[in-house]
Parts: sequence; C-alpha cells; structure tokens
Amino acid sequence: MALFKPKAAQAQVDFDYLPRHVAIIMDGNGRWAKRRGLPRTAGHAAGAETFRTIATYCQKIGIEYLTVYAFSTENWKRPLEEVSAIIGLLKKYLLESIEKMERDKIRLHFFGDLEALPPELRELTVRTDDISTHYDGMQVNVCFNYGGRDEIVRAARAFAAECAAGKKDPAQLTEADFSGYLYSAGVPDPDLVIRPSGELRISNFLLWQSAYAEFYYTDVLWPDFSKEELNKALAAYQGRSRRYGGV
Ligand code: IPE
Ligand code: IPE
Ligand code: MG
Repeated sequence: MALFKPKAAQAQVDFDYLPRHVAIIMDGNGRWAKRRGLPRTAGHAAGAETFRTIATYCQKIGIEYLTVYAFSTENWKRPLEEVSAIIGLLKKYLLESIEKMERDKIRLHFFGDLEALPPELRELTVRTDDISTHYDGMQVNVCFNYGGRDEIVRAARAFAAECAAGKKDPAQLTEADFSGYLYSAGVPDPDLVIRPSGELRISNFLLWQSAYAEFYYTDVLWPDFSKEELNKALAAYQGRSRRYGGV
C-alpha cells in the first residue's frame, strides 16, 4: 500500500504501482536562469530547491530509491565560478538536510569520486553517509562527480586487482558479481529514468544500471519540474509494457 495518496492526481497515477527506483538527470538549470536574465548559478540554486521538493514528494508517496545526477565527470569543463557554486550548493544542502534525514530516516548515499571535493566537504559527505546507513526510509543517491563510464572502469580495476591477488577468477565473473563493484552495489536497477530540459541523451548517466529502465523525457526545465510533472512521468511509466527482451 502507498503511504499517501494525493487527491488531485489519483485519476492519473496508481500509487499502488509505483516504480521502486526513480532516477533523474536534473538538467536545464542554466537555460532556466538565462531565460530570466539571471546568472547560471541562480539556476543551480533553483534546481537545488526543486530537488528538495521532489525528494520530499517521492518519500511521501513511497518511492524506495531516488537517484539524482547532480554533477558529472564532464561538468569540470565548465567555468570555475559555476563549478564552485555547484560545490557550494552541495555543502549548503548537506548541512541543511541532516535534520530532515534524521526525522524521515532517509538514507543518503553518494555515487561518484568524492576525492576531488574539498576535504571539509568530503568529510561531510562521509558523515551523512554514515549517519544514514542504518535508517530504513527512502534511499537517495546523489551522483556527484559521477560518470557511467568512469564507474565501470573503476569496477573493472577493482575486480582486476582481486584477480591479480588471486582472490577472484575472471572466468567466474557474472553480471550480478560485476554489479557489486559499482557505486550502486546492492541497489536495484532504476525502473524509470527522467530527463527534463528536452535533451534526448543519456549523458553518461547510469550506463550499466539503466539497461532496461523506462525513459521519460520532457521539455520542462529542472527548476520548473514539479510534483505534477513527476506524476506525469509516473503515469507514463505505468502505461509502459516492460518485456526485458521477452514477448
Ligand atoms: C544541470 O543543468 C546541472 C548540471 C549539469 C550541473 P545545466 O547547468 O546543464 O543547465 P543547462 O543544460 O545548461 O540549461
Ligand atoms: C548531465 O547534464 C549532467 C547533470 C545533469 C548533472 P549536462 O548538461 O552536463 O549534459 P549535456 O552536456 O547536455 O550532455
Ligand atoms: Mg545541461
């Protein structure tokens, strides 16, 4: 049973048949700001607020896993000012969300290479990760300095190192074993991947995990993405026939 059934959306979405794992490419912040004559950084600040709204809603309706793409391994190509602003927002958000995580028992995890973050912020990510490990609420995975290819290469390296040490046999490796080397170890694959902002590409997001995910695209820019937009995506998901290669 769903925890909560919003009245207005009941006709559209069956809240008893929700995807377990929703993944979102939070895109369109820059264009949102530009249209308002604001600096791109204002778009990122607005996007962070949208994340808060959508994460709260997902938790309310009973989504088990929410994975969001916040900063890619390719986003370092952007101007330093913009990158610094995004890192600053991560810090601000983490500091503000510790209390809420405790209250709602949210497990917050990071996918990505956090070694590149300033030490103080890195320590904060480790702390929030640790605090929430034993909670039993929704799991939120924030992809930061994340790239799907980078993730697969790291997994291959880790596995190869174990083979070289004589602990693993390459001939015995299965898909399930390999999944265990990814950032997403233990997390079920995403059922639904949402990309706002009108771009029709994957941009290095969850390459391995999204093999059989359902995709939903919308022209709405991430800062304008609302609960209603999420309901539209959920309704679209519910209309799909997932065959996994079968008939
Ligand atoms: C997504 O919004 C946020 C990050 C990639 C960090 P963008 O900043 O890519 O916004 P657009 O695509 O330029 O509008
Ligand atoms: C993908 O968006 C990364 C995030 C949303 C964090 P980008 O804006 O970086 O992707 P491209 O450049 O349009 O492919
Ligand atoms: Mg973009």
